[in-house]
Amino acid sequence: MSDTQSFSGGIVVSGVRRAFGTVYAVRDVSFTAEPGTVTALIGPNGSGKTTLMLMLASLLRPDAGRIRIAGHDPLTATSAVRQAVGWMPDVLGSWASLSVRSTLETTGRLYRMDRMTAAARAAELIALVGLTELADQPTRVLSRGQKQRLSLARALVHDPEVLLLDEPASGLDPVARIELRRLVRRVAAEGKTVLVSSHVLAELDEMADAAVYIEHGVTASTDRVAGAKRSARAWRIRSSDLLGLEHALLSIGVAQAEITRDRAELLVAVGSETAAAELLRRIVASGLPISVFAPAVGDLEHTFLDLSRSAAAVSVTRAPITTMPTTSMPITSTPTDSISIDGDGR
Ligand SMILES: Nc1ncnc2c1ncn2[C@@H]1O[C@H](COP(=O)(O)OP(=O)(O)O)[C@@H](O)[C@H]1O
Ligand SMILES: [Mg+2]
Repeated sequence: MSDTQSFSGGIVVSGVRRAFGTVYAVRDVSFTAEPGTVTALIGPNGSGKTTLMLMLASLLRPDAGRIRIAGHDPLTATSAVRQAVGWMPDVLGSWASLSVRSTLETTGRLYRMDRMTAAARAAELIALVGLTELADQPTRVLSRGQKQRLSLARALVHDPEVLLLDEPASGLDPVARIELRRLVRRVAAEGKTVLVSSHVLAELDEMADAAVYIEHGVTASTDRVAGAKRSARAWRIRSSDLLGLEHALLSIGVAQAEITRDRAELLVAVGSETAAAELLRRIVASGLPISVFAPAVGDLEHTFLDLSRSAAAVSVTRAPITTMPTTSMPITSTPTDSISIDGDGR
């Protein structure tokens, strides 16, 4: 996006800053998120994600910088921004005694829908997020995952162009997470701009098209992200014949120091996707039984860890998430462990 002035949709943020007294919550954030995509906002706890989202939603004033939401400035066009934005906060403040249906109807009325329109929209969203059976139950009976679905439905009531989801998957079980990912992808497929924050990287790896890395209130530059993505990473290889596999790797020319044993698998440092493909070809040619050949950590996690290791971040980030090359071999990929980057900040 060379000319952000003419970029009318999505989210455009440039040089945004916000302090609370002496605490610099957001120091220098710049990025763009395009319509029809899901952009991950990744950073440890206390890195400024919620503060940034509040500014995007026009609920908090930046001290400096420029924000455009669907072409509107939250400072001067607050009502246009509120109409364009759907905001899913990290904690759902729901009206415990209201039913799921009344919650959505009341929200619709707050957006000035007439009674019939609000009722029709509530019914539509209840079906979309799969809460039909609970529609007339008070929201206090909902599980965490069901509350998150209601919260997403509430953010969608006025059919916003831009969706801001603050840690939507936190506390969800794996099934509820898959369900949430399906919903978020569906919303993006309708052309909406989705920004979703998390400190659990695997969660975002599953649903995002692009990523913004934020640490201590600063987004990492495109160059740094590209460098981190290119850096060597570990690949996980599983075989029922581990000793044979190790011999095969050594004879292919992999240095002993680059091989680590991890339970029933070997981890091997690999410099690039091309090198991984070549390694796979040669191991398979050796005739060994291989059941897993996959990156040891997800793309976002790898990039994040590498960024954390390198120097402090500076400006803009756009990181398209690449998918692993598929292979026609009978090889399964292993689910990467979900790591949390908790612990920084507060
Ligand atoms: N209203 C506030 N008053 C004072 N400090 C705040 C306030 N909101 C956030 N902060 C501080 O700003 C930093 C960023 O917080 P936050 O945006 O909530 O991070 P994240 O959502 O990434 O966990 C933290 O150090 C936090 O303690
Ligand atoms: Mg937060």
